[in-house]
Parts: sequence; structure tokens; C-alpha cells
Amino acid sequence: MTSFKNQKAAKEWLKSFGVDDTPLGDAPTNWLELAKNSKHTNQVSPATAAPLVKPLQVPVSSYQPIKTIPSLLNPKAQYLTAKSLASEAPTLESLKSAIESFNGCSLKKTASNTVFGEGNPNKGLMLIGEAPGADEDLQGKPFVGMSGQLLSKALSCIGISSREDYYITNTIPWRPPGNRQPSSTEIEACLPFIEKHIELVNPKILAFIGGTSAKTLLKTNQGVNKLRNREIYYESPLSRKKIRALVLYHPAYLLRSPSKKENFWNDLLTLKKLLYTLTLN
Ligand code: URA
Repeated sequence: MTSFKNQKAAKEWLKSFGVDDTPLGDAPTNWLELAKNSKHTNQVSPATAAPLVKPLQVPVSSYQPIKTIPSLLNPKAQYLTAKSLASEAPTLESLKSAIESFNGCSLKKTASNTVFGEGNPNKGLMLIGEAPGADEDLQGKPFVGMSGQLLSKALSCIGISSREDYYITNTIPWRPPGNRQPSSTEIEACLPFIEKHIELVNPKILAFIGGTSAKTLLKTNQGVNKLRNREIYYESPLSRKKIRALVLYHPAYLLRSPSKKENFWNDLLTLKKLLYTLTLN
């Protein structure tokens, strides 16, 4: 530790570091008075203060609005970008990476995870829901929350007892904030991914879980009540292959409308029959 013989030595030492020695004077100092009379006050009047950053002088005639980036704002461009990314994905893994690299859907910004798909793509059955909810967003897996658990229970009643028996995904891979319905722009931006997803899984049976996936992929405005209990085919826009499809109530809807459970049960029995005839032969 440094020690000093007297106060003067201490002041000299402090001065050598540029420290003002006034506080060490013998008499008390009135700092307010000193500041008022000082030429070096920090108070600068706004009128005389020099701007810290010189304003950019742009003649009005040469002003150009900032150009927008089409792929961020134009729904058609987003769709085309997704289509191009999807077309270059020959496997499910590469499709997952393609989706993760896509920035053309604003839902990605608020989501915690990209929810791709889960299950066995070789069992002939593919289920497609709407979009991830809060639990799916956190875990990065489809249908793991309350409605997912109800769906799993219902499927186990017809002998489909684990995810190893089917493959499941969503129309949209990112959670819409507050679980709102995805907008038509968001659906359009992600459409090439779900179309390619179906192409790669190549199921014998497609089950649309709820109205959003059914309307989007069957290109119809009809709701689940009109579409359920009908012999429907999904035609792939990529291969033109026709796949037997059926439309089921969304489990979230069943939780709100228990009177529809009987219809849902009948639709599950149809799925069981289809599975038996289409996947076991
Ligand atoms: N609802 C859906 O449509 N998908 C999920 O993954 C979860 C809830």
C-alpha cells in the first residue's frame, strides 16, 4: 500500500493521475458557487449546443423511399420461396431443414419452435391438424397438449395405440399467437411445405383433423360438418396421385361441443375400416 509523509505529498500523487486537488484543500468548498462562475460548466444551452451527429443533408428532390424486400412483404413471393425450398427437399429431414430456414411466414417470429411432424411415416396413415398450440410450441412436437391427448385416447379405442402406428403433422409449423386461427396469408405461405410433406410420407390414408387442414388441402370452403362422413380423395398437386382422405372433427372442437362425439366415434370406425382394407392389403 502507498503511504505519504504529509498532505502535500498525497496531493502531488493524486495530481499525477489528473485528480483535482481542490477537495483536499484546508477550507470547505462551495461547489454550487464554483459551478455558477465557472467558464467550464457542462450546462450548454440548446440553441448554442452543437449537434452530436451532423444531420444528413438530403435534397428533397433526390429523396427515395426505402425499397421494400419483396420476399418479406409480398404473399405471392413468400409462397414462391416456400415452393422452391420444398421442391429441393428429397427427404423428410431435408424438408424439416427447409422449413426451418424459411422466413416468409411471420408466425415464425413469435414461435419458440418449428413443429415439424412426428410418428411413423411408413404405416400408411397420415393425420394433419391446423397449427401448434402452446404445448406443441414449447415441446416442438405436434398434438402433445390437451387436444392431442384426447386425439390419442380416441385413436387408441380403434387400435391405433401409439405414434409408431401413424404419422402426424400440421398445416402450419408455427404457433399463431394466442392460438388464433392462422390467416389466409400465413396458410398460403406454408402451403408448399405441407403439400411436399404429404408427397414424402406418401400415405394410403389422409385424415384431416378439423376444418383448416381440410379446407386448405381439399381446396374447398365447406366446413367439417359437410365434409365428414364422405368418400373424399386428396389429389397431390405434385404427383397428381389421389389419396383416400377423411375429415374428422378437431378434438379442440369436441371439447367445446361434446354432442358431436357420437359423429366423431362413427368417423373413427370408418377410419378403422379404411385402415384395415387399405393398409393391410
Ligand atoms: N391443434 C392442432 O391443430 N395441432 C396441434 O399440434 C395441436 C393442437
